[in-house]
Amino acid sequence: MTTLDVPGFLHGSAKMDKLIINGPAKLSGEIHISRAKNAYLPILAGCLLSKERIRLKNIPELRDIKTMLSLLEKLGTQITQEGEWTELYTPTLASFSATYDLVKTMRASIFVLGPLLAREGKAEVSLPGGCAIGTRPIDLHLDNLKKMGAKIDLKGGYVRAEASSLKACTLPLAFPSVGATENLMMASVFTSGTTIIENAAMEPEIEDLGNFLNSMGAKVKGHGSSRIEIEGVEHLSATEYEAIGDRIEAGTYLMAALATGSEITLTGINFKYIDFVIEKLREMGANIETSDNSITVKQSTLSGTKVETAPYPGFPTDLQAQMMALMTTAKDSSIIVENIFENRFMHVPELIRMNALIDLEGRSAFIKPSPGLSAAPVMCTDLRASAALIIAALAAEGETEIQRVYHLDRGYEKLDQKFLKLGASIKRVNSN
Ligand code: EPZ
Repeated sequence: MTTLDVPGFLHGSAKMDKLIINGPAKLSGEIHISRAKNAYLPILAGCLLSKERIRLKNIPELRDIKTMLSLLEKLGTQITQEGEWTELYTPTLASFSATYDLVKTMRASIFVLGPLLAREGKAEVSLPGGCAIGTRPIDLHLDNLKKMGAKIDLKGGYVRAEASSLKACTLPLAFPSVGATENLMMASVFTSGTTIIENAAMEPEIEDLGNFLNSMGAKVKGHGSSRIEIEGVEHLSATEYEAIGDRIEAGTYLMAALATGSEITLTGINFKYIDFVIEKLREMGANIETSDNSITVKQSTLSGTKVETAPYPGFPTDLQAQMMALMTTAKDSSIIVENIFENRFMHVPELIRMNALIDLEGRSAFIKPSPGLSAAPVMCTDLRASAALIIAALAAEGETEIQRVYHLDRGYEKLDQKFLKLGASIKRVNSN
């Protein structure tokens, strides 16, 4: 068993690495989808709820995962890796404080708030602050923890929470927030009685978190639906677990194949997690075949369509930028309405530099067919916008240089190697 060891670029040392992509690309072959970042991030935080050994399989090599593992180590978790297994063991806590230096690089650090409160009765977590795509407040997390009896103080950029004991109650969420749902599920696992979360987020990653907690002996019901019931238990035990496939990664590769008129197969993904996305792509004319654990997309001629992002099972906001890049290659116009985040169109100016024809009006984007995407030096601004630039670069004529790819390293495991395997001309250049 070795202690935590992660490739250099995940340490963020590759701050200014860039990708060089030559298009148009023709992709072919098969890739295996990694385990979901947005399932493993709350699951990792949930490991704090058990004093026994937790073994997790195929945790993806991502910067966000590395940040979460570093945070857990600071809190006292012993982490060892052996092949595809990572073992997390937290017999005692060394700290109950998630400091700004880590939280500022990854807002999902807020997921330790619920588990620390449940286990320790106290927690101190730096306020995550906004990020490129929006202010991203955590009022739904805090207001509902207060409702459970936690004392919450905001001071010096930190959330200080204390609760000698949380009380079971019904928590109607004003919005089906993914993070708030996950934090409240974890906060209530030891709360005697039954805590009910109403208008809960229904994303597959929520269902996965509930299954993980139950594998340790929790009593969670209704996870994946809009009403989740958590019956408190005394303690949680050891478990072995593997998270679901990453539906956003899968959707990204599907759209890259469609944008380049390619035929590829994705394995390790349950297509029902991106049912609505596949429906929308078929509406555009995409030829997509699905089986239990794989999806095959064939060469297709695409028309435009209208997409409105929405909480699950609607169209995921995390595939909005990638869908927009695809729509620029369709033979007629499309519209995208971004209803979840207030500033998630930063990929638009970069796509326009590549000859895309896109007009913005508030939360709506109007995409006309591009006369032909062309290569240009572009810059990543956030994780999913970066994926949109990759899709456009694969479809564009010429050599595109994509800067600040550290954004991509947050959420796409071995992306350049996977696209290389599919036949793309893509190389990562260390620009230090
Ligand atoms: C999760 O973020 C995902 N991150 C995001 O993925 C994803 O875009 C988002 O859910 C929506 O699906 C992880 O799971 C780690 P929310 P989260 O709470 O939990 C507002 C990616 O690219 N809101 O459902 O932060 C919020 O401002 C990332 O992988 C409040 O107002 O999302 C936003 O407008 C990006 N108050 C909306 O709800 C709150 O207390 C959705 O937020 C919480 C949220």
